[in-house]
Amino acid sequence: MARETGQRAMTESDFHLDQATGPTIDFTRLYRLWEEHNWSALGLDFTTDSHDWHERFTPTQRRAARWNYALFLHGEDAVARTLAPFVTAAPTQEQRIFLTTQIVDEARHHVFFSRFMREVAGDGHDYVSTLEAARPDLTRGFRQVFDELDRLTDKLRRHPRDLVLYAQCVALYHIVIEGLLAHPGQHFIRTYLAATRLLPGFSEGMANIARDEARHMAFGLQVVKDLITSSPRAREAVIALLERVLPWTLAVFVPPNFDHDYVRVFDFELRDIYAFGLRSLEAKLTRIGIAPTEIVSLVQTAVDAPVEEQARRSLVLLEAGVIGDTVPLQVNDEVLALLFDGMERVANMRPPRDLPGPIQWAFTNARPWYLAVEDARVIVHQGSASAPALTLRCDVEDWARIAGRKLDARWALLTRRLRLEGERRLALRLPALLGA
Ligand SMILES: [Fe+2]
Ligand SMILES: [Fe+2]
Repeated sequence: MARETGQRAMTESDFHLDQATGPTIDFTRLYRLWEEHNWSALGLDFTTDSHDWHERFTPTQRRAARWNYALFLHGEDAVARTLAPFVTAAPTQEQRIFLTTQIVDEARHHVFFSRFMREVAGDGHDYVSTLEAARPDLTRGFRQVFDELDRLTDKLRRHPRDLVLYAQCVALYHIVIEGLLAHPGQHFIRTYLAATRLLPGFSEGMANIARDEARHMAFGLQVVKDLITSSPRAREAVIALLERVLPWTLAVFVPPNFDHDYVRVFDFELRDIYAFGLRSLEAKLTRIGIAPTEIVSLVQTAVDAPVEEQARRSLVLLEAGVIGDTVPLQVNDEVLALLFDGMERVANMRPPRDLPGPIQWAFTNARPWYLAVEDARVIVHQGSASAPALTLRCDVEDWARIAGRKLDARWALLTRRLRLEGERRLALRLPALLGA
């Protein structure tokens, strides 16, 4: 539904979401904007969209769009289903009222994607069958993140007075899922469709959704900011949540068989999406008062470098199978160098003052590396240290599995896939040193 002329569409920048300091978000104003910006998912005209889909999209574009929109269809269904416990847990009436409007929004977003997939792409004949048709397209990262949303919101339903849990739920829902995952996807879909003037009905719906999501993210940022500013326990819990889910989020946008054509057919690269997502996330963290340099999984991929470089590193580790479960593990020199660089960065978040000597990695099938403290900083080197205090022996794939949290280091020790020589007590400090 088109807005009356003269009324400017609200965008994320209206809320200063990506600025370190912005005005306090007034929940009543958000409610008013919701009233003003209501729209109809059933009223959109998909006639031209059907023509574009069948006549102007190539078969590869149709396959790629189906995969991409499937993630949105299921994402909208999941967020509509899981928001109700937030309403009971919200500590103020203003928050409860806003959250109630958001449930309506998310249901409408689901109706929109479901209608498009059914009426234009021809998948399914009702809400349930359309969801089922899209289910095989869900990625492993998607399932991990949304399983966690189900788990946490179910816990919130059982413990509605737990404000720390409420802070974690809002952080997962509004900052990670809406801010880090949905926002970049929407941005790139809209950019391509605007440039090509394809799918006008779908584009109109996506513009409405983007406006709704800007309100949702503004709400979430304010709620989390207030809660973690007033409660160190809430702050710690939100950081712990981010450490747990951020590695999964990296695998959400991995296309089938890691085929880059799924995004290239729409004129962008996976790296663009990852960089956009990281920029959005890091700005939002700063906005709520958490420095990105406090988050181990961001520090590991060089949070002080430009987001394009952070995105490149994440994709190298994903394509090597170190993170995510999308491809078989393949560790080459570049991957190993990135793993040790990440270790060095994490170790320097709290550099140890009293390391008794270097720690050596003696790989059975790759060149050795070691870690030493020099001028109060941890430095990693390729090669052999002259007198290591501790030596770890394993094959390079097992070390990559341990670094990628796919193999538990204690289990590797018990099964002798990992062996230690030297000051074994030093090994007890490795997890703290490496942020594992
Ligand atoms: Fe939504
Ligand atoms: Fe939303």
